[in-house]
Amino acid sequence: MQVVQDIAALRAQLAQWRQAGKTWALVPTMGNLHAGHLSLVSLAQSHVDYVVVSIFVNPLQFGEGEDFAQYPRTLAADCDQLQALGCDLVFSPSASELYPTEGRQSRVSADPLLASRFEGALRPGHFDGVVTVVAKLFNLVQPHVAVFGQKDYQQWRVIQAMVADLNWPIQLLKGPIARDTDDLALSSRNQYLDATQRRIAPQLYQVLSKLAQAIVATEHPMISWPGVCAKAQQELIVAGFDEVDYIAWVDQQDLTDVMDITKPSVLLVVARLGTTRLLDNIEIIPP
Ligand code: PAJ
Repeated sequence: MQVVQDIAALRAQLAQWRQAGKTWALVPTMGNLHAGHLSLVSLAQSHVDYVVVSIFVNPLQFGEGEDFAQYPRTLAADCDQLQALGCDLVFSPSASELYPTEGRQSRVSADPLLASRFEGALRPGHFDGVVTVVAKLFNLVQPHVAVFGQKDYQQWRVIQAMVADLNWPIQLLKGPIARDTDDLALSSRNQYLDATQRRIAPQLYQVLSKLAQAIVATEHPMISWPGVCAKAQQELIVAGFDEVDYIAWVDQQDLTDVMDITKPSVLLVVARLGTTRLLDNIEIIPP
């Protein structure tokens, strides 16, 4: 497995693959890899000849007062895991390699409808930062396939929309949410939790699952939604969460409130333990 920091070395390797008629996938990450990231690499491997993983903690997508400085950076351990999995190339540029004109680069702006609610409302500029770095990575790596996790549902939709809007000939794959044995969705931020918070955290998925079951079991779920949603919020607080940022039941395509349960929908939830925000979601397929 090759590990490259600079764009020239990346391009040299890709030119060889291109000449040999090979296909490759990109799995963008911010590193500190866990089994969720690795499952995306395995998914990528089943579709193409070679897999590139990018590792870059993207300053553009962090807001003031967020955890950019604190975000865990574990490149050597990440590379060991990727090597063991048979990954072919790791691209881990420095900030100055990727953003040479620091602070004044051109940017891509995310679809305003998809990016306006939820994470976009709570983290202004976040999705513009995400789509800008992903656009740069797509231009640099020119992958045939790119893989993202369902874990960050809104991010997945924002990136899907960007690829369609900007006409990239890239096949996007959505990897299922990898969970711990107690069903907590794996996340690099789980390590910010202390022992008590870690014991509370799996309740997020338990409450969300119950909510999904309630929707599927009810004859007119749109009518009962306000009540069951308020009850779920209360359950999370009773379980020990400090705050519920949102629980939403939205259309899978445009992320607007569900009006018609014949279309695929998704339940999105974010709750806080201390300053750590935990995200989870469950897709609901119409009967
Ligand atoms: P990061 O948080 O490192 O996540 C990289 C990819 O792993 C994303 O597509 C994310 O959805 C996926 N992922 C995270 N946890 C997962 C889990 N438990 N199961 C399955 N997939 C999971 O998301 C980002 O980085 C950045 O925003 C990025 C797209 C790299 C742009 O900077």
